[in-house]
Amino acid sequence: MVIAIIRHEHLQAVQDVLDECGVSGVTVTEVKGCGAQRGYTERYRGTSVNISLRPRLKVEAVMRQEIVPVVVDKMAGAARTGESGEVGDGKIFVIDVEDAVRIRTGEHGAATVQHQQREMWGH
Ligand SMILES: Nc1ncnc2c1ncn2[C@@H]1O[C@H](COP(=O)(O)OP(=O)(O)OP(=O)(O)O)[C@@H](O)[C@H]1O
Ligand SMILES: [Mg+2]
Repeated sequence: MVIAIIRHEHLQAVQDVLDECGVSGVTVTEVKGCGAQRGYTERYRGTSVNISLRPRLKVEAVMRQEIVPVVVDKMAGAARTGESGEVGDGKIFVIDVEDAVRIRTGEHGAATVQHQQREMWGH
């Protein structure tokens, strides 16, 4: 599974990469976070509030292991601001997934996360 934390404006380009590579699904969640620049907390009405967490999108896509390096490189290109990138452009994490099941059919494994035919691409 490739997990990318990206800026909202790069979502379409990142989804285009997944389509190009035949990845058959994606989950996108609105998140807040900070990176190396760190957040800091302030007291607000008696509770401590982190005022520098920035809104980002978390894009999660499970795919065949063989295509992960290519997808990660393409995603990084798609989510980079301008030619050389900007602070806060995000991160990509890769984690192992033990199995996947398509609920409709009960099938397991790689077939559940890969588009077979081009007509089936897109979300
Ligand atoms: N180590 C991490 N663990 C979990 N999420 C992270 C991590 N680093 C970054 N993120 C997420 O990615 C978002 C963007 O991070 P960001 O691009 O600022 O990383 P960075 O390491 O500070 O790199 P840069 O110096 O380019 O800004 C954060 O808001 C956070 O949601
Ligand atoms: Mg940062």
